[in-house]
Amino acid sequence: MIEVAGPNADQIHYWNEVAGPKWVALHDIISAQIRPLGALAMDRAGIAAGERVLDVGCGSGETTLELGRRVGPGGSVVGVDISLPMLERARAAAQAAGAANVAFENADAQTTALPGPFDLLYSRFGVMFFAEPEAAFANLRGALRSGARLAFVCWRSIQENPWLLVPAMTAARHLPMPQPDPHAPGPFAFADAARVRDILSRAGFARVQHEPVDRELSVAGGGSLDETVDFLLQMGPASAALRQAQAGPELVERVRADLREAIAPFDGPEGVRMGGAVWIVTAAVD
Ligand SMILES: C[S@@+](CC[C@H](N)C(=O)[O-])C[C@H]1O[C@@H](n2cnc3c(N)ncnc32)[C@H](O)[C@@H]1O
Repeated sequence: MIEVAGPNADQIHYWNEVAGPKWVALHDIISAQIRPLGALAMDRAGIAAGERVLDVGCGSGETTLELGRRVGPGGSVVGVDISLPMLERARAAAQAAGAANVAFENADAQTTALPGPFDLLYSRFGVMFFAEPEAAFANLRGALRSGARLAFVCWRSIQENPWLLVPAMTAARHLPMPQPDPHAPGPFAFADAARVRDILSRAGFARVQHEPVDRELSVAGGGSLDETVDFLLQMGPASAALRQAQAGPELVERVRADLREAIAPFDGPEGVRMGGAVWIVTAAVD
């Protein structure tokens, strides 16, 4: 594991000790929920056979493997991530798939010089956690060749994401809600398109474009109502509030009951379907 040090020390701790093990345990259902959004960003990237791709914040490597399939045997993909538990899963998946054209680096994408030059920088929800995003993208830009592209997907605001807003509002009836700085590293840090355009422009990217996409998501990958409630108590704003309040079992049960009632109207034959809102961000290197 990399040292818990440097500007992203808090995130290195968080993604190794708190969130990483959870993401590994919940891998299948998280992936099922966000796969269509990651695929959209890949489609926008216009990937060609033989290209070299950098997958930033690659986590358990699902997108790294898919990128590897898309570039084919003549191309290659490097997945970079600070989370060792997630990378261990990624490496095991690559080995099981016999994916010879993918490799993983346990490193901080903000501070580590990466082995380019790459044709494409891709990320599925992996670029919103940098303490200094401009420095991070300037560093990543240094690993791209002239003419390279960038394509990533990130969340829009919580208010535009009912699948996260409903659990947050439910938890708020029982618990004090954390009120982080909206630009602090976290899932919503890139919700503000003007800010992200500035960050990318100052880091050396041209033709930055934001495409808003609104999609119904299969929350918890289309599991049962109770499985979905369970998932939302482990991930996202309700989970963060419960963790911060060090909530005991009684309080957890009260939030669970309330949350079940709040999301039941969204339950149907395909599981719990709720709205999600993302940006597909693209840019280029001149
Ligand atoms: C929301 S998860 C997304 C994981 C993966 N891309 C996926 O879609 O399943 C965010 C990922 O970004 C990684 N991450 C956060 N800060 C990072 C940094 N400074 N350098 C590299 N990876 C980072 C986390 O460890 C985590 O795996």
